Amino acid sequence: MADMTTYKLAVIPGPGIGGEVVPEAIRVLNSTDLKFDCSYYEIGYEVFKKTGTPVPDDVLEGVRQTQACLFGATTTPVGVPGYKSAIITLRRALGLYANVRPAKSYPNQKGMKDVDLVIVRENTEGMYSGMEWELPDSAYTVRVISRAATERITRYAFELAMKRTKKLTVVTKANVLRKTDGLFLEVSRNVAKDYPEVEVEEAFVDVTAMRLILKPKNFDVIVTSNLFGDILSDEAAGLVGGLGLAPSANIGTDYALFEPVHGSAPRLAGKNIANPMAAMLASKMMLDYLGETGWAERIEKAIVSVLKDGKVLTPDLGGSSSTTQVTDAVIDAL
Ligand code: NAI
Ligand code: MG
Repeated sequence: MADMTTYKLAVIPGPGIGGEVVPEAIRVLNSTDLKFDCSYYEIGYEVFKKTGTPVPDDVLEGVRQTQACLFGATTTPVGVPGYKSAIITLRRALGLYANVRPAKSYPNQKGMKDVDLVIVRENTEGMYSGMEWELPDSAYTVRVISRAATERITRYAFELAMKRTKKLTVVTKANVLRKTDGLFLEVSRNVAKDYPEVEVEEAFVDVTAMRLILKPKNFDVIVTSNLFGDILSDEAAGLVGGLGLAPSANIGTDYALFEPVHGSAPRLAGKNIANPMAAMLASKMMLDYLGETGWAERIEKAIVSVLKDGKVLTPDLGGSSSTTQVTDAVIDAL
């Protein structure tokens, strides 16, 4: 057999259930025949109290030496002046411009059947540009759409569409936001010329919000700007039944971070009842990114078979099994 590659990973489990589900995802990864060299890091409020920054430079340096990051959760304290969310700081520092959120129906998941779509959200500008100011009786936020960032995000979405069903919906509100979303559309039409096989549909965000509920099966890949993507991806997660099975990826030019959509869920923490499957599905996305599509598929199939079986499920899916028992079942199925 040829030399086995060892994948260098940064692992940031974080507080609460992050610290419970990420180790379980690593346990699944370690039961494949792939090799991983994991470096563990801490970011967040506790680190901020010690060092004055939520993401110290040496952590960033360390993370940059790895090929991908598996992340659990952070807790962002409310009302601490000058404190910025650690995960947002990290995404910015690593240039992770694409937020990728699949919404897929799985067996035994509460929600709609036969949904299988991916929302690709621009992660660096748009309405979340951070450019805000106020006057005595009014306040302003600048919506920034740049040619470069739009080209980058739409190209990512077209590449993804090529690997899936070759259908892409470009979501804007160009009828009202004529300048910013006018540019978004113009750039996406130019990029489309490089992908003649992809069937492109242009849709307005309000209609898309409704059609997602009425006919989610009609969508495959959706690409949109930051705020619209934030809202539509939570809507899509809700369609297929919530957080226990929702993974996400943050993709950059030469680095990527994978995480469950959920946070630290303090009320579930320490009880060994959090569903580890969202973190496992995030690690599945990471394997796809690393080119290990075979093992990615096997991990997903193992999760699906445990779900179908229905005997070993955490309470959020109506079962009474523990986090650890669910992981054991997934590893057995693998
Ligand atoms: P959350 O996602 O942590 O939990 C919301 C609820 O969803 C939980 O109470 C629980 O009932 C359910 N849930 C979430 N994950 C689950 C799992 N794996 N298994 C079973 N049930 C699950 O959101 P919440 O409560 O709004 O935030 C808690 C903390 O997490 C906050 O400090 C927030 O800032 C942080 N957070 C961090 C995120 C990140 O690091 N990317 C994302 C969302 C929240
Ligand atoms: Mg959100």
